[in-house]
Amino acid sequence: MNPMTSPSPIELHAGTVHLWYTSVAQTGIPFDDLLSVLDEEERDRAARFHFERDRKLFVLGRAFLRCLLARYTGAHPARIRFKQNQYGKLFLEYPVSSVQFNVAHSGDCIIHAVARGTGVGVDVETFRDFEEPETISSYFAPGEQAWLLAMDSHEVNAGFFTLWTCKEAYIKALGLGLSKPLDSFEISLAKSREPKILFDSDDNTLPNSWRLLLFEPGRNVLGCVAVDIASKVVELRDYGSGVLLERLFSEVRDHSAQ
Ligand SMILES: CC(C)(COP(=O)(O)OP(=O)(O)OC[C@H]1O[C@@H](n2cnc3c(N)ncnc32)[C@H](O)[C@@H]1OP(=O)(O)O)[C@@H](O)C(=O)NCCC(=O)NCCS
Repeated sequence: MNPMTSPSPIELHAGTVHLWYTSVAQTGIPFDDLLSVLDEEERDRAARFHFERDRKLFVLGRAFLRCLLARYTGAHPARIRFKQNQYGKLFLEYPVSSVQFNVAHSGDCIIHAVARGTGVGVDVETFRDFEEPETISSYFAPGEQAWLLAMDSHEVNAGFFTLWTCKEAYIKALGLGLSKPLDSFEISLAKSREPKILFDSDDNTLPNSWRLLLFEPGRNVLGCVAVDIASKVVELRDYGSGVLLERLFSEVRDHSAQ
């Protein structure tokens, strides 16, 4: 193996979480190259998307995830195998590793959160006007509904949006997705403070086990990552207009050719 062309490892210490951000629009990698690192099941899934845009988002996201995990684990991207829990959260099956991760996409934006030895959940949303925030928030905890009701009308959309992003990051960190009732836990969003989980009626130890951090990876895009309470560092890593992503792919090609 040529050390000049083999993928260089990314170091990740326990207590640190990496958030990788890219936009579909920024990458000019040929679609066939992306498809070539996916497994058969992923290619079948890609073929079933109705809209080309959704297909591109999925294929880029999954190819990117494989290349990224290859850099953390040393495995070849195409040999990585995933397993998922009953609610759809992905984990590494091969190689066996303490690396955990979670994925979110919205619009053109893709986020991958990577942690070592601890769970992680991430959500990202492109700002838009929700048509009926009242209908969706009627499923939220009573305290969250009261907080939204007390807001000035011009603030409600942003408040709902932020709360929704935090709630999704949390249910994704737990690996439960929307199987967890949205009124079974409450998040408080006081201004200029970290979001705080006030209670979780399914398990009262959980609010003290997780931290929620908001971030803005791009214009009009809001993200939230739920990390283990012991996490000390969360780094947002931009793929620099696709440059790093393309380099990563050329490394993979060189690696395969050997
Ligand atoms: C996990 C969930 C909450 C995420 O859904 P989403 O907002 O549609 O999509 P995101 O982009 O945030 O996340 C998708 C990724 O989450 C991961 N995921 C799926 N189920 C998951 C779970 N139970 N826990 C954690 N992560 C999960 C997958 O990797 C998926 O990416 P992939 O399909 O490319 O593999 C999903 O359970 C769901 O049901 N979503 C519906 C959301 C909805 O109705 N939103 C309305 C907004 S107002």
